Amino acid sequence: MTKEEIILANKEFLFPAVFHFYKEPLVIARAKDQYVWDADDNQYLDFLGGIVTVSVGHCNSTINAKIHQQLDTLQHVSTLFANEPQAALAKKIASITPGGKLTKSFFTNSGTEANETAILTARCYTGNTDIVALRHSYHGRSAMAMSLTGQGTWRLGPAQAGVVHAHNAYCYRCPFGLTYPACDVRCASDMEELIRTTTGGRIAAFIAEPIQGVGGYVTPPREYFSIIEGIVRNHGGLFISDEVQTGWGRTGGKWFGIEQWGVTPDIITGAKGLANGSPVGLTVAKPEIADGLKGVTLSTFGGNPVTATAAKAVIDFIEEQKLMDNCTTTGAYLRAALEELQQKHQIIGDVRGMGLMQAIELVEDRTTKTPAVAQTARLLEATRENHLLVGKGGLYGNVIRVTPPMNIGTSDVDQFIQLLDKSLTESA
Ligand SMILES: Cc1ncc(COP(=O)(O)O)c(C=O)c1O
Repeated sequence: MTKEEIILANKEFLFPAVFHFYKEPLVIARAKDQYVWDADDNQYLDFLGGIVTVSVGHCNSTINAKIHQQLDTLQHVSTLFANEPQAALAKKIASITPGGKLTKSFFTNSGTEANETAILTARCYTGNTDIVALRHSYHGRSAMAMSLTGQGTWRLGPAQAGVVHAHNAYCYRCPFGLTYPACDVRCASDMEELIRTTTGGRIAAFIAEPIQGVGGYVTPPREYFSIIEGIVRNHGGLFISDEVQTGWGRTGGKWFGIEQWGVTPDIITGAKGLANGSPVGLTVAKPEIADGLKGVTLSTFGGNPVTATAAKAVIDFIEEQKLMDNCTTTGAYLRAALEELQQKHQIIGDVRGMGLMQAIELVEDRTTKTPAVAQTARLLEATRENHLLVGKGGLYGNVIRVTPPMNIGTSDVDQFIQLLDKSLTESA
């Protein structure tokens, strides 16, 4: 198919709700490591990583060699049968969860399913119904996951009962108009009143992304999650960490984002970067909590041997190549460079994130903080013109999200900054 035929077929045969970046959809034809090529063979530097999914580089040769071998050995059996790749992956994951305490896994195919499973498990284990999620969150696209999600754009159809939304720790736009640390982390202590006033008082769980991904990399202060954990546990709730974006070392030095806040969750969910592009969903829980999901359940593709092989290979690769450390050092280099760009471009109101998960929030005016929505859209088009891929997000659509593969180096960051700088100037 030609590029034009592909775009036309997209329009004609896909749901119109399938939205694309850019005015004219970009057709990607192939990819390798930190680069992708479009249908006209133009090369782009990929600092979005397939929305935080290409964790160890496109078509990573080490991972793909193992996938190819597994593909020719055993492709599918379903969860009705045991297989070595699933068992080996579950065993490996159990060994790297915080404190080695979350040891039982259930595999599915997406972050959405992983969160569905986590909510179901928490409700079965606690016998409670109410769930507390965060405003500005994103947890997926099933009816429940959309109800958990705290952004109107991503909530379609009627909401499910039993979900309330607490304030997030959006320090740049504090919901209480306060400033950290004088605020005493009011957004966290507000949880007590939220539970007392909007739930029955006993809750099944609190679910949060340690850093809100689609929400624009909103990064809470150090005390936030431990304050919340105490309140949630007092009300009978479990702590679910949605690590779909923050997992597998991306935040630097630790396997899971929530570890940066010193909290050991009861359930972790994962997807995206776990298998570097193969569809996967993971719900891993403390054993007694997993045991609370009584009865039987099935996922046809969950723990698929090929996907499980990919996921185990990714974890091994991250470990062998010390990519968690690379996320710390190269992430710090990236952060410093973005802060330098902030000095130069007035439009950059905030720089935030952790490790190789960084964002810039664009504002029309640094005092009023009016979201620079049109300028962000122009910037995205300019990055495309300059052959750079980045993400866009945030409740107001004014955040540029940066999540390159975790095995990039500082020279890639230099190239990225040069292209972003040029795009910022051209789109001003
Ligand atoms: C934090 C988070 N949770 C859950 C999901 C849903 O994952 P999926 O799109 O694989 O269903 C996403 C997707 O972007 C996400 O960012």
